[in-house]
Amino acid sequence: MTKKWTAEKLMLGVCYYPEHWSEELWDDDFQRMKDLGFTYVRMGEFAWTIFEPEEGVYSFDLFDRAIEKAHKLGLKTVLGTPTATPPAWLTHKYPDVLNVSQAGIPYQHGARRHYNYNSENYRRLSTAIVTEMAKHYGDNPGVVGWQIDNELNCEIDVFYSEADHLAFRKWAKEKYKTLEKLNKAWGTVFWNQTYTSWDQVYLTRITVPNSPNPHHMLDEKRFISDSAISYAKMQGDIIRKYTSNQWITTNGMFKHLDNHKLTNEVLDFYAYDSYPNFGRVLEDESEKPLRDRKWSWNLSVVRSISANFAIFEQQSGPGGWVTRLEQPSPNPGQLRLWTYQSIAHGADLVMYFRWRTATKGTEIYWHGINDYHNLPNRRIKEVEQVSKEVHLIGEKVVGANYQAEIAILTNYDNEWDGEFDKWSGPFASISKEAWFKALQYNHVPVDAYNLNKNSNVEELKKYKVLVYPHAAIVSEETADLLKEYVNQGGKLIVGCRTGYKDETGQTYMKAFPGYLADLTGITLEDFTREAPFEATPMVMYKETAKLETNHFYEVLKVHDDNKTEVIGKFSNCYFEGNPALVKRQHGEGTCYYFGGVFTIELAEKLIEETQINNYKNKFDLPESVELSIRKKEGKEFVFLLNYSHEPQEIDVKQEMTDILTGERIYQKVRMKAYDVLVLE
Ligand code: GLA
Repeated sequence: MTKKWTAEKLMLGVCYYPEHWSEELWDDDFQRMKDLGFTYVRMGEFAWTIFEPEEGVYSFDLFDRAIEKAHKLGLKTVLGTPTATPPAWLTHKYPDVLNVSQAGIPYQHGARRHYNYNSENYRRLSTAIVTEMAKHYGDNPGVVGWQIDNELNCEIDVFYSEADHLAFRKWAKEKYKTLEKLNKAWGTVFWNQTYTSWDQVYLTRITVPNSPNPHHMLDEKRFISDSAISYAKMQGDIIRKYTSNQWITTNGMFKHLDNHKLTNEVLDFYAYDSYPNFGRVLEDESEKPLRDRKWSWNLSVVRSISANFAIFEQQSGPGGWVTRLEQPSPNPGQLRLWTYQSIAHGADLVMYFRWRTATKGTEIYWHGINDYHNLPNRRIKEVEQVSKEVHLIGEKVVGANYQAEIAILTNYDNEWDGEFDKWSGPFASISKEAWFKALQYNHVPVDAYNLNKNSNVEELKKYKVLVYPHAAIVSEETADLLKEYVNQGGKLIVGCRTGYKDETGQTYMKAFPGYLADLTGITLEDFTREAPFEATPMVMYKETAKLETNHFYEVLKVHDDNKTEVIGKFSNCYFEGNPALVKRQHGEGTCYYFGGVFTIELAEKLIEETQINNYKNKFDLPESVELSIRKKEGKEFVFLLNYSHEPQEIDVKQEMTDILTGERIYQKVRMKAYDVLVLE
């Protein structure tokens, strides 16, 4: 289920911290934002002590003045609740609000996100500040929306305070009702972990060896996610009570948080903070690294939450903290490219982080569009160009939907289980990346689709092809849904390590892939990880190509039902000649099972095999150019993004209009380094 948010046109904005600057600068700052064509400004998300200098004493003057000045110029404010940074007076008086490491050491005041979601004091004090802010700003015409907190689960995504341990016990009690059921779900009979009283139940603690019970670890992540959601919901409910026309969202996408559920239960739409510049410094030894283009996958996941979304923090310069010499300066054209990367994937509002580089604190090297000196610079010039263009195309493109015929499935249980299960989790990331690269480099637009309790066959049927690389956990219910999808004509592609666990993370006592055995037409006879000092098996694909493999192998037994065709066989190993890749008809559709980990090459073969549209009839594009399509009222807008530092030649096979320049485009066109074309 994805949420739809409607804006009137594409819009730009910026994050601003009035509390960081002399008030004499404000007028000029807001005026220049306006002159740049910005519509939105985000403020307030770290300013708790300014709003509440001491417990129960509130002061809104500073932000009242800032919001009013912005509003007078037509700038709309998004107001953040300031709970990501609890005040010193608060943590000093109520130390139980602090988050604590697994080893029991509290995180102290001095940076941010040092609180926990379950402290009663923190909930009470958060309720108070959010209530006062919502009452005060609920009908302020300058405030159009709210950001709850800032980047839930960023910086730290595990919580072990006393309050968390107690809340977890309660959560486990509600989930399992009896200790007998909990013991069964966590398989505590193994290594004598059986609990005989609820008081013995904690979140995971440091163990010998430090590899706690895996079923317990999986539940811990579910609990952390539920805690963050219930904390956000507490804030959302207050804001809704005191406001009428203001929307509610939050920003970021971090681990141990079911952002789909969060959005469904609390938010109007989802917002993301996009920092593709991280991609340029990632240690990535894989084949054909994606670099900044990796963020196109993140944006696809964001789109699976809200079809149209907002970027609350768009990279606007080099980045790092005082303690982190990290990201280089964007090359000329890259800020523009990254802004369009967000828009191409479904963003209708993009706010840059931040207006001006901070002159104090941890982030003095996290550059804003303005430098410390506040004089004109290259980044402002580039944003000026983007802004002009966005105004030009804003009404046309806003609300248009990203077009994809294929989706890669995601699922929180598998993601969380896979974090510590090294026999499946890493393969899921490797295969997802191989598929994403193959699709990107072959210009096949792809969605992420989150498989969850609300998923239904109608939603899945929007896609001709679904790829679910190594879902270890597949319940009977999920298996039935996938079967129905294939039955009704879908093409499903799965890889090794599929379907062998239930929802507790325990393995089935069934031949693998468990409930998917009849759909896939195979069961496993045997499996092995790659043997490090031995020859690596190969796969003979359709007797035409010998493909390299890696990591993990399964010896498949094909069920003899005439519907299963072997299209790949292993070689160069003791299971030489055994099926590696099988294709099975089921109802109107097809299921593919690969007993290994996907590579770019194999994904490319399967893209060809499943005949997904690669737009080759319309364009001839080099690998470095990404193709995305957004469609509205029958009109398609094609975004072509060149991630290369070199110019690229493309071929547009049917005449189109470049809506950024109004020029007609046909046949050979040269794209400059980092250039963007938007064609209609
Ligand atoms: C995050 C935060 C911002 C800022 C930037 C840059 O995304 O939300 O407050 O810290 O990163 O580090």
